[in-house]
Amino acid sequence: MALARNDCHHSLLSKLATSDSHGENSPYFDGWKAYDNNPYHPITNPQGVIQMGLAENQLCSDLIEDWVKRNPKASICSVEGVSEFKDIALYQDYHGLPAFRNAMAKYMRKVTGGRSRFDQDRIVMSGGATGANELLAFCLADPGDAFLIPTPYYPAFDRDLRWRTGVQLVPVVCESSNDFKITRLALEEAYDKAQEDNIKVKGVIIANPSNPLGTILDRETLTSLVSFINEKNIHLVCDEIYAATVFKQPDFISISEIVKDETNCNLDLIHVVYSLSKDLGLPGFRVGIVYSYNDNVVSCGRRMSSFGLVSTQTQYLLTAMLSNDEFVDNFIEESGRRLASRHKVFTQELAQVGINCLNSNAGLFCWMDLRPLLDNASHEGEMALWRTIINEVKLNVSPGSSFHCPEPGWFRVCFANMDENTMNEALQRIRTFVSKSKKSAKSRRWQSSLRLSFVSRKSLEDFSKNPSTVSPHPCVMSPHSPLCHSTT
Ligand SMILES: Cc1ncc(COP(=O)(O)O)c(C=O)c1O
Repeated sequence: MALARNDCHHSLLSKLATSDSHGENSPYFDGWKAYDNNPYHPITNPQGVIQMGLAENQLCSDLIEDWVKRNPKASICSVEGVSEFKDIALYQDYHGLPAFRNAMAKYMRKVTGGRSRFDQDRIVMSGGATGANELLAFCLADPGDAFLIPTPYYPAFDRDLRWRTGVQLVPVVCESSNDFKITRLALEEAYDKAQEDNIKVKGVIIANPSNPLGTILDRETLTSLVSFINEKNIHLVCDEIYAATVFKQPDFISISEIVKDETNCNLDLIHVVYSLSKDLGLPGFRVGIVYSYNDNVVSCGRRMSSFGLVSTQTQYLLTAMLSNDEFVDNFIEESGRRLASRHKVFTQELAQVGINCLNSNAGLFCWMDLRPLLDNASHEGEMALWRTIINEVKLNVSPGSSFHCPEPGWFRVCFANMDENTMNEALQRIRTFVSKSKKSAKSRRWQSSLRLSFVSRKSLEDFSKNPSTVSPHPCVMSPHSPLCHSTT
């Protein structure tokens, strides 16, 4: 009966609404559900799940709140600002408030270290970087066409870029052996594979700084990407949503800085995605930007932005905030300081229990190497460990497979979406878990050495009876057993 009702329901809706192509069927999203069902609270639910799967920047919320209090005129819902209420509440041009685009262009210049200029007339608004990425996919590719995308990559790209557009993503396989660098060889291989499969490649999309790696692309890699896309005559989309989360050297290099000096680059192929969700910690405001060097993309994008405009009230408030140079300069500096300090404490504490993270200098997360804790070095082994972490340790961290990481055992863990006490509770749970794992590994080692000595004695006996049938090394432990640290 339930099935019949479901079928009937399905035929009422579109294929898009009823198919599984939404890209949300991954442990990345399942982990959020586990948190939602049992959220940690220090007093009301101290045994609950701690959310470490959400890349949110809460470390400088006090600075924003303080600015809002000191600038009541910027809020149209205050006594001081209400005289602007009516104008702001009416329809506005979908190009966005000119003052807002101007403030945004100035702010983006600061975020990119003052080394790039942005023209306010190239700024197209969208609902967060989510909307910006989809808008670009709609402008640049037809259903069935593909973007190359280096792995590991942000899991929601599977939804944002693919679901409604029908665009495909072809992975560019990057590996831990060279810190997941995007090489020319990997790009060529992915491109050739797509050609063999008769898939038309329309571009490359990268996140710089990377989510989940927390690393930035160096000048050489960016220049090589620019040559690659120019040679193939395909687009380059750079999602720079984490630009101002770079908290230690080397400095962030925006693609806008690279193309400024590249005389051979066709600028019509270059597009930047930006948002205030991470750098300013305002994901609820849904402020996203497409900055395209291509005039046709700008004008088509403007029309499309009607579907995901930023509320005029938000634009109005942010125009005042972002035009305040002293506030912005201080915020960027202080945010970097707080992120650096949180990252340092967090990674040092992990290192104390033998957990290493990829060396990084940006982002709101670490790329944690849990390969030594895998019972078996496979994606099944990774999922088993993830289930233990989420169900028993009660931490929502995200497994590498949800980022399309080809090597099992890597996990993304977010550190900027919680207060210090919650971080300490999370670290305590990790310590207890690792020490228990070590103990049970020790007992497994002890049992297996018992087995080993038994087998050895038995094998030696057998060997003495029939030397041709018995291996002299009957029991070799897996290099990925939790007892030994993997060397790869
Ligand atoms: C690389 C990347 N792009 C886009 C987004 C989506 O950002 P927004 O909240 O601005 O839509 C995220 C969010 O985590 C992200 O990590």
